[in-house]
Order: sequence, then structure tokens, then C-alpha cells
Amino acid sequence: MSVQIGNIDLGEFPLLLAPMEDVSDPPFRYVCKQNGADMMYTEFISSEGLIRDAAKSRQKLDVFDYERPIGIQIFGSDINSMREATEIATLAGPDLMDINYGCPVKQVACRGAGASLLQDIDKMVAMTKAVVEATHLPVTVKTRLGWDDNTKNVYEVAERLQDIGIKALTIHGRTRAQMYKGQADWALIRDIKKNPRIQIPIFGNGDIDSPEKAAQWRMEYEVDGMMIGRAAIGYPWIFREIKHYFATGEHLEGPTMAERIDVCRTHLEKSVAWKGPKTGIFEMRRHYASYFKGIENFKEFRMKLVQAGTMEDVEEILGQINDNYATEMA
Ligand SMILES: Cc1cc2nc3c(=O)[nH]c(=O)nc-3n(C[C@H](O)[C@H](O)[C@H](O)COP(=O)(O)O)c2cc1C
Repeated sequence: MSVQIGNIDLGEFPLLLAPMEDVSDPPFRYVCKQNGADMMYTEFISSEGLIRDAAKSRQKLDVFDYERPIGIQIFGSDINSMREATEIATLAGPDLMDINYGCPVKQVACRGAGASLLQDIDKMVAMTKAVVEATHLPVTVKTRLGWDDNTKNVYEVAERLQDIGIKALTIHGRTRAQMYKGQADWALIRDIKKNPRIQIPIFGNGDIDSPEKAAQWRMEYEVDGMMIGRAAIGYPWIFREIKHYFATGEHLEGPTMAERIDVCRTHLEKSVAWKGPKTGIFEMRRHYASYFKGIENFKEFRMKLVQAGTMEDVEEILGQINDNYATEMA
């Protein structure tokens, strides 16, 4: 059965790219889309930043037609600011709006935003209502199981947010207190999906890093789709590999060296086109290690890549990598 968010048809069992600060920008989203991500989100954007017209926040609103359907994620602690930020973000033309009630980091959660709303469900409901009323777009929410082990209240959160009009809920199977430690626990996500009151799509998130796990957890937890974060960093092929495994029960071959180089180059080109050469090349440095993870004797090339200052230099090093590994890995 096809999954619907408002008028958006996501097909059967969609795979979503997680919002990730400093990672899920348009260049990265481009390569994930090429490799099968069904829906994507921007990294979270501060509502206060948008209202102040901060350039950094504004730039994160850029969405492109090739990425659709795409959601803009916002966060904040003040209901009026969230309402205003929703109006601003809606004008950027995304397909949906998403609210972050999951971010655990101190600078966010200890300032009354992100996961901290899990400690005040009434406020979370009022904030969500304000966002829903401020846009004609479907609104989705991303959250965690609860604040800590004693307050796993996502069951109540799911019912109340559905009642005031959200169109899908993504749940990361950890509490705020867990941050990113331990294993994600999807059992409660299944309970929510099984709640007969819940009609909206429920997406599971946390620790999906292989086609086998995706297939097993799909069966075990009965969610409507999955959101993938860390496993896609430097490995956008995860989406197509999972889809292939779902369809055939067989493993798709991993990317060849030529494909790694190709996707890395595309990512870099998109980065430079969107951010300009200086920032584009600089910010690409954090991705090289991931694109070539597990490749033997790669250190020397990685060092060269992170020191390269121009597109031509990077191109040349990518060429050397190709020559060096072409015969053994093509
Ligand atoms: C570098 C990084 C940045 C993140 N930034 C965001 C963010 O902006 N908004 C958000 O909702 N979650 C953010 N997250 C959490 C992820 O969306 C996701 O919930 C989490 O990584 C668990 O999924 P995974 O195991 O597939 O990575 C971030 C995670 C990482 C690793």
C-alpha cells in the first residue's frame, strides 16, 4: 500500500534521508536522491535565525526541484517564533514542513527547543498547532521515545499530535538521555504503529545500516517506512542497496571505485556550485574519508584530498585514485 503524506504519494515503504546538521545540504541530498532516497529533509533550521534573517539560516532554505518531495525542518522554543518561521519557510516552496522535537544537544535541548519539548507535551501540542495553522503544507514531526527512561511518552505524543493535524511522525528509537548511545529500541515504535487510534504514517529511525537489518526490522516493527541518517554519510548507495534487497532478497554489489569517485565528484561539483569554490571545497573535506571508507592503503590519497585547494587539484587526485585502483576494483 502506498504511503501518503497529504497529497504526496511516497510509494510503498519509502526510505527517507534523515535531517542532519552540516550534512543534509543540497549537494549531499543530490547524491542521495540519485541513489534512491524517496523523501528528504533539510538539516534543522533555527526559527529565531530565520526571523532575524540570519544568512546562515536563510541559505538552508534553498530547495531544488530535483529533490522533491523535500521537507524543511525547523526548531525553536517560542511558539510565536515557530509560527513566523513556518510562514517564512513555506515561502521557500518545500513540499512539507517538519518540526524537530528530537535534538538532544545542550545548545538546543537546554534552551527549550528540540527534545526538550518532550518534557512539556502541552506546549509541544500548542507549538505544533501553531505550525499547522501557519502553513498550507502538510506538517510532519520528528521526535524521540521520550526525555529519559522514566518518561517515554511518545505514545501520548503520537495521539495528540495526530489529533491536531500532523500528517506523519518519525520516531528515533532513543530517549534524549541516551543521546546517540546504546542501541535504538524500535519496540515502542511498533506499539505506536499498532495503536488502532493512529492513522498517520509512522516512520522508524535509528541504527539502520544494512539491507538485512532494514528487511528484518521492516518485518519485525511493521512501520510505514524508514529514515536513514549516519549510514548514508559517504554511502548514499545504502538506499538503492536496501531497495534491491527488499525486491530480490539479494545483495547488490557495493559501489565500484569508479562509482565512488563519480559520486564524490558530483557531490563536490554541487557543493562548489551552491556554496562557491572556497566554502564548497573546504566543506567537502569532511566527506572524503566516508566516501572511501574501507579502501586499503587510502590514507595518502585522503591526506592529499583534504589539502587540495582548487577543483583542479581535487580532480587530479581523483584521477590518480582512479588510476591506482582501477585494475583491482573496477
Ligand atoms: C551529524 C548529525 C546531525 C544531525 N542533525 C539533525 C538535525 O538537524 N535534525 C534532526 O531531526 N536530527 C538530526 N540528527 C539525528 C538524525 O536525523 C537521526 O535521527 C539519528 O542520526 C539516528 O538515525 P541513524 O542511526 O540512521 O543515523 C543528526 C544526526 C547526526 C549524526
